[in-house]
Parts: sequence; C-alpha cells; structure tokens
Amino acid sequence: MSKLGNTSSKNKNVSMASEINMPNREIQYLKHNGHNYTSPRISADYISQNGILFHSDCLDLLKNIRDSTIDLVFVDPPFNLGKNYNVPDFNDGMAKEAYRGWCRTWLLELIRVLKPGGALFLYHWPYWLMDLGAWLNSISIVEYKSWIALKMKNGFPSKGRIQPAHYGLLYYTKTGSKPTFNVVRVKSPTCRHCGKLIRDYGGYREKFRRYEADGDGIPWISVSDFWDDTRPARQDKERASQTNELPLHVPERAILMASNPGDIILDCFAGGGSTLHAAKLTGRQWIGGEIGEPVEALGRIAKFFGTEETSRPSQQLLMCFQKKFREEIIKIDTSGNDRPIVKVGQVHNGQNGQASVDSYSSKSKVLGF
Ligand SMILES: C[S@@+](CC[C@H](N)C(=O)[O-])C[C@H]1O[C@@H](n2cnc3c(N)ncnc32)[C@H](O)[C@@H]1O
Repeated sequence: MSKLGNTSSKNKNVSMASEINMPNREIQYLKHNGHNYTSPRISADYISQNGILFHSDCLDLLKNIRDSTIDLVFVDPPFNLGKNYNVPDFNDGMAKEAYRGWCRTWLLELIRVLKPGGALFLYHWPYWLMDLGAWLNSISIVEYKSWIALKMKNGFPSKGRIQPAHYGLLYYTKTGSKPTFNVVRVKSPTCRHCGKLIRDYGGYREKFRRYEADGDGIPWISVSDFWDDTRPARQDKERASQTNELPLHVPERAILMASNPGDIILDCFAGGGSTLHAAKLTGRQWIGGEIGEPVEALGRIAKFFGTEETSRPSQQLLMCFQKKFREEIIKIDTSGNDRPIVKVGQVHNGQNGQASVDSYSSKSKVLGF
C-alpha cells in the first residue's frame, strides 16, 4: 500500500463514524484465499484541466479527498460474484461479511467527501442494493431519493428462481443543503416502421407540445424510475468487457439529474470510464480511480478527449485533495513520451481504434424551461 494512501484521515473516519453513530469499519488489509490484499501505489495517470484519473485503490484515493468537496458520486463496484478483473491480488469473491464491511467502509468515505446536498448513486444487483440500502437508510445524514430499476440486456434463467430482468441504481442525497434536481427527459418512443408515437397521451397530448425540442413532433418526456432504454448502444465488440462497462447513458442520466455544469463528479471504480466520459460530455469536472492498470478508461479518454494533458488541473479540482497529496501525486511531466495516455492513445488512435462516436450520442436532455 502506498505511503500516502495510508497516512491521512484516520481521525476523520473516526469523527465521521461517531457523527453518524456507526462503528469505524475501516479495513486496510483483507485476506483472500490466504493472501494479504495489497493495493497499488497511487499515481495520477491522466490529468487535464477538468479531470484526473488515478491508478488507485478506492480507499486510498478516498482518504486523500477532503471533506465536503464532491458534488456527485457515481459508483458501480465489483459485485462480489467471482468475476476475474485481471487485477493482481484482487479477488471478487469475498465472504459476505467482509464484502459488506468493505462496501460500508467506502460508502462512509463517499458520504464524507460529498458536499451537503450532494448526490450518491450506487449501481448494483438487488441482493446487495437491499442490504446496503437498508443500512444507508439508517444513516441520518443521507436521504433516500429513489431505487431506479434498469432493464438488463439478457437475464439468465436460474433453476428454482424467477428470471432476473433488472439491476438497480440507488439514489441518495446528503443532507445539509438543498440538493440539485433537474428533470431529465428522453424522447418519447416511436414505431420504427411508421415513425408514429407509440404512447397514447390521451387528453394530455397538447400539454406535451412544448417539449417537442427537435421540431419533429416527438416530445421529450421526463424519465421515471424504470429505465428500459439504457442497454448498450455500442457494438459488443467495442465494449470494455473486462470491466463490465456500463452504457454511457446510465451515468449520464444520473449526472444530468443531480448536478450542474462545472460540478465535480467522482467515480472510484472507474473501470472502462463511462462515468468520466459522461461527466466530460455534460460539462462537469471529474475524478476517477481504478485499482487495475486503467487502460480501458485511458483508451476511452484517448479516443474521445484526445491525449492532451496539463500538468495541473483546475484549482477547484486540486482543492478536493489534501495538501501533501496535491504536491506529491497530482503532477505529470507532460513532455514525457512514456505517459500512460500516450502509450494507450497510440493503440486507440490506430487502425482498430476508430470509435463509433455516433453510438455514444446522448439519449437524455435537461430542457431549460
Ligand atoms: C463493475 S467495474 C466498473 C465499470 C464502470 N462503471 C464502467 O462503466 O466501465 C468495477 C471496477 O472496479 C475496479 N475495482 C475493484 N476493486 C477496486 C478497488 N478496491 N479500488 C478501485 N477499483 C476497484 C475493478 O477493477 C473494475 O474495473
């Protein structure tokens, strides 16, 4: 574990834990199959004016983020279903109690770093959403907003059980200030043969005329807590399968709903970088962390944001971190040719790296009225 990763905020964790009347359950070392779990040394692998990607264990990164500095957190952690993420020393098959304790540990940290009124989105499968959601409900400084059900691409029938067809996204806000809430709209579905509206708005059709934002007679309607249109828009072969990458529209919709342009978005399980990409597309600033070599997320950045780096990010991003961390970790020599983004960029901008930019296009809008 890196020196910096271990140093700070132990006291903060304790005061946070007592503030919300929970035991301090910080777990620094977990044993899996007889091996000690050790995390990589933290490095900032990409820095731009509006975003930083760290190669880091989630807890090491969180410990270096200051209290109440983040506007929105979106996390899609490993599900503890035994998936091989190809990360040395990381095992996605913890004992239930260890997994529960680990999740609670980083959730407390996420709550600590959120600004009052900030939003927390947790993507998981129903078993763990029930468990972690019930526990979150007992914490006085967060408020439950929604359980959003997302249709799964293909649910596999399993013997003796009803076929699973959805994952969930829990949405909480931190108390202490008015949360941001924007009405997010999606285009009303149409028949792919005749192009006519599928939904019958009955006597309310006229009310929706003002939401025909594209001038084509199709209104943009507000999203509910059931999302059945968020399945991957891209070809499967383009997907970062190693990391179970989410469709861009999932984090994008959460970000549009609960933050404003310029706000700071955090995802400490960045994987293929869908949250970072969504933050960039919607004009937010972002902080990402990934325990494995973050090649998938870097590849995505290289494809869509270019490989341009700055040695320092915006002052607002810098001020999210402890001083020592700012000075020692958040710096990149942009003249070097061996930077991770340059190496990955060469691959991703090559022959096979042509991204289908159109298939990443946004499906959601916040109308300014
Ligand atoms: C389900 S994936 C996230 C996928 C991401 N939402 C996307 O759309 O690409 C979970 C990620 O968490 C990473 N991970 C696992 N344990 C971690 C830890 N302790 N700290 C940081 N990242 C971790 C895994 O390597 C994996 O890339």
